[in-house]
Order: sequence, then structure tokens, then C-alpha cells
Amino acid sequence: MLRHASYSPPVKNAAEILAMREACTVAATVLDRLCDFVAPGVNTYDIDQEGKRLMAELGCESACYNYQIGNKSFPAYTCLSVNDEIVHGIGDLKTVLAEGDNITVDVVIRYNGWIGDNARTVIVGEGSEEMQQLVATTEEAFYKGMAQARSGKRVGDISNAIQRFVESKGYTLVREFVGHGVGTGMHEEPQVPNFGRRGTGDRLRPGMTLAIEPMVNAGKAAIRMSNNGWTAHTRDGKPAAHYEHTVLITEGDPEILTIPKK
Ligand code: MF3
Ligand code: CO
Repeated sequence: MLRHASYSPPVKNAAEILAMREACTVAATVLDRLCDFVAPGVNTYDIDQEGKRLMAELGCESACYNYQIGNKSFPAYTCLSVNDEIVHGIGDLKTVLAEGDNITVDVVIRYNGWIGDNARTVIVGEGSEEMQQLVATTEEAFYKGMAQARSGKRVGDISNAIQRFVESKGYTLVREFVGHGVGTGMHEEPQVPNFGRRGTGDRLRPGMTLAIEPMVNAGKAAIRMSNNGWTAHTRDGKPAAHYEHTVLITEGDPEILTIPKK
């Protein structure tokens, strides 16, 4: 995209924020219920189908299904990424979850024309100490980033907080996929990388809605792409974790919009 000096990422007005709030509540409710469906012996095709069913029940549609990048079109309703899969995993009858696996459930929905985007990695059963550490660190990294999502700060402040925290724990951050603005489109400006320098990038303003989403590898940062053209794996085969919410920048504290309905 061409940018000039006066460019600044989209800011939502009160009505648009209300619409985002509603979409994000639905997205979070689908994610919550879908995570409850995760269990040993369940295959990821069935989890995706349950996602499709929940979306219909809640009156929204998948923003992933048929999502186009170049000439590819995403074939599933949710992204389900197991163990060394980082993002954009595709549910599959042959991928049967076992105790100790991790699965990232990533739900992006459209409701009344607005997008809600959220994801988290859950462990099937209890999982190893290492797996628990990885998942907990990824979630904490999100909160470190969100703490910087304040009016007057810059995108690089979020990025840097995530990077410093994750690397201090001995993990690495994926470079090829980043957080992003969310609105009527799934990926709006600005990009929100999970690495970067403080005080750089776009200035944050009240009314911006950002998907902040650390993708953390237990081993090295390098990825490899699956033959399916969508799914990113860790190159070294070690597990990855992901944690994402849609966050509203306000005059004061940032607000997570992707909070489920009771
Ligand atoms: N949360 C993911 C993202 O922001 C979801 C992508 S959906 C897909 O990239 F259609 F691209 F798979
Ligand atoms: Co996202």
C-alpha cells in the first residue's frame, strides 16, 4: 500500500465500535465453545464442522471459509493447527487428537458485516511441563503486548514488548505472520508484528481495533509451508503456540473485545 506522511490506520466511530463489539462477542463465544469440544480421540475435521455449526447457531459466518490469498481459497471454517503447525491448519479426518497434543483454535467470523478475530492454543489433556510453559508464555506475551496498546504509543511498542518477553523465556517469534487491524476486513492496517523496535511504526489512536497475536515457537523461528499451500509449520518440528484477541484502543486502558457471552 502507498503511504504518505498524513496516512494513519483506520479509526472506528462509536457506532462502528458497537458493531465490532457485537462481532467480537460472537467470535469469542464460538471460540470458547469450540475449545470445549477439544478432547482426546476427536479429529480436527469434526472440530471444524462443530465450528461451522456453532457459527450458524450464533447467526454469523466464517470469515476464513473461501478467504482468498492470491489464487488460493481457504477450504475450512476455522483454522486448527496441531503441535508443529503454527497457523492456518486445516481440519482433517486423519488428524486425531491425543493426550499431550496442542491445538490452536483460531476463529474469525463476520457478523453484520464486521469481523471478530481470536485464537488460543489449548493442550489436550494435561500435557507436558514444556507444553504448559509454551502455552502460558504465549498468553502472557499477548498481555505484555496489550499493555502497550495505548493512545499515543506506537505499533512498535506492542511488537517490542512481545518480542522482549518471549525471547527472555528462550522461545522465538514467527516473522512471516503478524497481527493486524480488524474491521469490515479481516486484515486491515496496521500490521502488528510480534518483533520490532520501540517508538517505531504507526501511532495508536482511540478507536483503532487491533488483532494482537503472538505466534511463539518452542524451537527456532524458521517456518516451512505445507503442501496444502496454507498451513505454516515450524521447520524444526518443535511445537508452536498462538494467542489472539481483538483489542480496542481507548483514551485509557485497552479493552479486549473478544470476550464470550456467558
Ligand atoms: N487469525 C488468522 C489470521 O489473522 C485467520 C486467517 S483465516 C484464513 O490470519 F482464512 F486465512 F485462513
Ligand atoms: Co488474526
